[in-house]
Amino acid sequence: VDSETNQLRRAYSEAAQLFHHILLNTQLGESALAYLQDRGLTTETIEKFQLGFAPQREILVAFLSEKGFSQQLLIKTGLFADKENGVLRQRFRGRVLFPIRDAQGYVVAFSGRTLSQDPKVPKYLNSPETKLFNKRRILFNFDLAKSAIRQNGFALLLEGFMDVLSAYQAGVQNGIASMGTSLTNEQVYLLERTTEHLCLCYDGDKPGQNAIARALKLLQPVTRLKLNVVLLPEKQDPDEYIQKNGGQAFKNLVTKKQQTKMSFWMTYLATRHNLENENEQLAYISEVLEKIAQLTEPIERDLYLNQLAKRFSLEKSSLTKQLHLLIRQQK
Ligand code: GTP
Ligand code: MN
Ligand code: MN
Ligand code: MN
Ligand code: MN
Repeated sequence: VDSETNQLRRAYSEAAQLFHHILLNTQLGESALAYLQDRGLTTETIEKFQLGFAPQREILVAFLSEKGFSQQLLIKTGLFADKENGVLRQRFRGRVLFPIRDAQGYVVAFSGRTLSQDPKVPKYLNSPETKLFNKRRILFNFDLAKSAIRQNGFALLLEGFMDVLSAYQAGVQNGIASMGTSLTNEQVYLLERTTEHLCLCYDGDKPGQNAIARALKLLQPVTRLKLNVVLLPEKQDPDEYIQKNGGQAFKNLVTKKQQTKMSFWMTYLATRHNLENENEQLAYISEVLEKIAQLTEPIERDLYLNQLAKRFSLEKSSLTKQLHLLIRQQK
């Protein structure tokens, strides 16, 4: 790697150590540390993920300059937001910092969570893209999760940083997150080199369910990964589920309660229709058939056709006929 890359890595490493030290060992970090402990994180987890706290006060320019980094380089780190009268100001203030590492384990960015309850303040603030940080290529926690992904035979895709940390602490260490956006092709490629199986475990709220639907639609045509889904109770995300039910319960959920994507579609599409009404029943059945038409294995098709037939007391032969009509239309 070139010397600028090296310098940027060193700057991020120094910054991460500084903010981590502030969180754990100083008065400036006390309230942030209390916040994280209150959310159930142990010191071991805080250390493993090198969580930090960026205080309000200006501290980073002086610290990094002292270490010998030039003003030019500091600008390139993205750690400084705006220049005021030619003076750099640190981007993260009064935020808990989650270091974002690349696949090799180098810190290449931060995401900062506000401690404020004010809904007008953005909850998370990320580093901008830099030479080191290409959002499309980085999966949060992939470096640490990689061996567990291999061991367990699947990657667990979660929505948020706290979900990944809580899961990790609970012993579910194959968790990764795409940081608030849908998976990109680059991230999928990274996963495909490590596993054949991806399980989506998004928040149990409506946005989370819609995000699963969107992800499945996007992923299906571009990946050979086998896709499964774990559903959480409504209004809980993985972190909240773990706080409420314990780590073992979450472990059971992700190892024993994975559903196929077709089973997700049947549940998800059902929530979008009033199945007491016959018109809606027909609409639902044809939406499910459209999903069944996309399945490649005859046994899979058969399984879900049987379920549909049973649920709506239909002849399976008429479902099969309709399915074939549909497939012919699509060609
Ligand atoms: P906590 O409240 O800390 O538990 O966060 P959460 O992860 O449960 O938040 P949420 O489910 O709302 O969002 C999931 C993920 O989306 C977060 O972990 C972030 O990566 C991202 N995200 C959420 N809010 C913001 C935001 O205001 N700005 C940005 N850039 N990303 C966000
Ligand atoms: Mn949100
Ligand atoms: Mn969410
Ligand atoms: Mn949460
Ligand atoms: Mn959430």
